[in-house]
Amino acid sequence: MNYKNIKAEKKDMVGVITLNRPDVLNALSSALIGELGEALTNFESDQEIGVIVILGGEKAFAAGADIKEMLEKDYFEASTGDFLGNWGAITKCKKPTIAAVSGYALGGGCELAMQCDIIIATEDAKFGQPEINIGVIPGAGGTQRLTRAIGKYKSMEMILTGRMMNAHDAETAGLVTRVVKKSALIDEAMDVANKISKMPRAAVIAAKSSVNRSFETTLAEGILFEKTSFYSLFATEDQTEGMRAFAEKREPKFRNR
Ligand code: CAA
Repeated sequence: MNYKNIKAEKKDMVGVITLNRPDVLNALSSALIGELGEALTNFESDQEIGVIVILGGEKAFAAGADIKEMLEKDYFEASTGDFLGNWGAITKCKKPTIAAVSGYALGGGCELAMQCDIIIATEDAKFGQPEINIGVIPGAGGTQRLTRAIGKYKSMEMILTGRMMNAHDAETAGLVTRVVKKSALIDEAMDVANKISKMPRAAVIAAKSSVNRSFETTLAEGILFEKTSFYSLFATEDQTEGMRAFAEKREPKFRNR
């Protein structure tokens, strides 16, 4: 599929989407978000694909929503239309998603990364929700996901002052999975993606939805959800194969069944 603002390609069992508006630091225009949603839907329905990786550029993963596109909007247009309505496409993916962040992940760019399940960042990555500088607030989940990731006091300062957080502090605060050298970013992200893509698919999906459930519900309900998902995996051939292979001291051959 040919896109104008992104690239989408299959690498073995991994769907790789590269944000591709380098001249504007991958500013997330509505056209780009639309294409991203389309590419995600295609990868979700492609049985060969087990994991989706989102890449940006070297200088920026994405510097936020396209400010020039938002400039002319008024309150009525923003609030009565479906502005940002399709920004959560990636959160609807059952397959695990990995953001590989180099450089700036600001505003909607930080929000897009946080919508993913794993964030691998380069040493020069910078995360921020600077919307306050342009008279608004995060609008694609930033106030909620950043707070859940790093807590009230760090996120409050970032959101109220627009201060960026460097990669080292982001890792310490729990905002990123791992920080790697710039030259190693894509290899690292692909290694993780390849590893997950070879795991038994039903268990991967159950694990992802159980972890994500912890953000949505009480501990007791979350544990009940986890237990039900755990039991359900005993209906899969991969459970039998995985446990039998362990007992027989051999590598399992998962068939995603
Ligand atoms: N929207 C539109 N264009 C953008 C952009 C954005 N978010 N971010 C950068 N650009 C454009 C710049 O206008 C510039 O274009 P021109 O060459 O045509 O002038 C080009 O990208 C390069 O940017 P800079 O010259 O500014 O590069 P820099 O290295 O000096 O600064 C930066 C980099 C600090 C990231 C700076 O570009 C910046 O502050 N960008 C805006 C960040 C921001 O406020 N993001 C939040 C957007 S609102 C949002 O995301 C709402 C939401 O929650 C959904």
